[in-house]
Amino acid sequence: MNIRILLVLFLLFLLKFDILDSTHQTKKGNKFWEPCFEEEENFAHCSSSDKTCAKDDHFKLVRLPGMRTGHVSWLELEKGRKYKLITRAMRPLLFEIPSFLSDEECDHIISLAKKIGLYPSVISRDQFRKEELEKAMQEADSNATLDAKDSVAQDFNTWDIDKDGFIDNLEVNSSFNGFVLSANPKFNVINNFQMSLSLGKVSSTLFRQWNLKKALSYMAYLKKSSAQHSFRFSDQAWLRQDRTADHVLRRLHERIIKLTKLPRKIIQGSEDMQVVRYQAFGHYHAHFDSGLELNTPCCHQNPSLRPPQCRICRFITILYYLNDVEQGGETAFPVADNFTVKWKDLENAEAVEYNLSINCHAANLVIPPKKGTAIMWYNNFIDADSGLLGKLDRNSLHGGCDVIKGEKWIANNWLTAPTENSKYLKSSYDVGFSD
Ligand SMILES: *[C@@H]1O[C@H](CO)[C@@H](O)[C@H](O)[C@H]1NC(C)=O
Ligand SMILES: *[C@@H]1O[C@H](CO)[C@@H](O)[C@H](O)[C@H]1NC(C)=O
Ligand SMILES: *[C@@H]1O[C@H](CO)[C@@H](O)[C@H](O)[C@H]1NC(C)=O
Ligand SMILES: *[C@@H]1O[C@H](CO)[C@@H](O)[C@H](O)[C@H]1NC(C)=O
Repeated sequence: MNIRILLVLFLLFLLKFDILDSTHQTKKGNKFWEPCFEEEENFAHCSSSDKTCAKDDHFKLVRLPGMRTGHVSWLELEKGRKYKLITRAMRPLLFEIPSFLSDEECDHIISLAKKIGLYPSVISRDQFRKEELEKAMQEADSNATLDAKDSVAQDFNTWDIDKDGFIDNLEVNSSFNGFVLSANPKFNVINNFQMSLSLGKVSSTLFRQWNLKKALSYMAYLKKSSAQHSFRFSDQAWLRQDRTADHVLRRLHERIIKLTKLPRKIIQGSEDMQVVRYQAFGHYHAHFDSGLELNTPCCHQNPSLRPPQCRICRFITILYYLNDVEQGGETAFPVADNFTVKWKDLENAEAVEYNLSINCHAANLVIPPKKGTAIMWYNNFIDADSGLLGKLDRNSLHGGCDVIKGEKWIANNWLTAPTENSKYLKSSYDVGFSD
């Protein structure tokens, strides 16, 4: 055969398989993924990390069309089973999906969380408070003089309400109005502060030995860490989402992939499922799920960093209600679809808008808990240039209102996504779905 024809055939071969395309020389190291999917393709076959597929610029994030608030559409997410999607807001783009989980799935997720055990949800604020307490205690050791406003506390009679010659825990509670002691031993002021010698009661003799400044600092700390006064009050557990996940969670992954129309790798690289229990007074005041800062690396791709060195890059939140709550426990979005918010008003972290104990029902969107319902919303826009994670949608401000009666169980799936700058970085959660 003519050598020229052979050459042409060879060139055609190279072109067909994209071998001449320089974008294959991806950066070395911790790659986000082998870019294997077309925009519309959810079921990529790129499970092996050393397989090279198509060009990386094929991958883009997508958002479902919300159309308008109140719009209803149906999606077949499992064979023969259609799910109703109700657009509840356009900013943030938010869908309510009734019966997204079956009762059995809800119960199963709760039992998984109970099995591994829940522990208090602590945010850095609480840690900060503890450090503040320690500092206040040290200061009180070196200077026990009370502030003028606290001088009334020096009088034993203001504490000893029933005049039996002792101060007990209940009296400590009432002396500091609004500081509600709970049955939780953590709130046993006298014992915790080691003020008791007998029966948890304090006599006037013992009272005179108290470092009152210390006692007051300790009580102020307890008040701030109590259910009513903390920013967030709940218990939580994390359920692994990877190949060790059980069959119920695996089936849920498939449903989420179909729902969000995002590539498998996004779901696979997302955070563990957070299961949260809110008991009486439990709540989580208004906050963002995703970070506001730009130009800070994403936490899910940089496991050694902690905010504020990294930012939380949660493209989507899917919140599942796992039970029916007797009263309270709504999810509130104070500024949903508010196109005239003055963000300056909200710069003060103490702004009443954030306090859902006060502001729950003033919120623009309030979704009461209903077992099996999922709420899905987009925390971030899509960056127009890269098609990857864009700016935070600040209208996504939200939180969980006080549980008034009963308890509330929810679960969260946060679907993290890369930015233009981090598209080659693998998520630290991505250890594969299958072996
Ligand atoms: C001790 O604390 C009191 C009350 O806070 C304050 O007025 C006073 O200046 C402090 N004294 C010293 C020596 O720091
Ligand atoms: C503590 O005090 C508050 C108000 O002063 C009161 O409502 C509450 O019932 C008290 N708690 C206990 C356990 O007595
Ligand atoms: C929220 O408001 C309630 C009711 O006024 C108040 O007791 C609580 O301390 C506030 N919480 C925070 C975190 O500011
Ligand atoms: C939007 O938010 C502002 C606070 O910045 C508030 O004053 C206003 O009433 C809100 N408007 C709507 C339509 O919710």
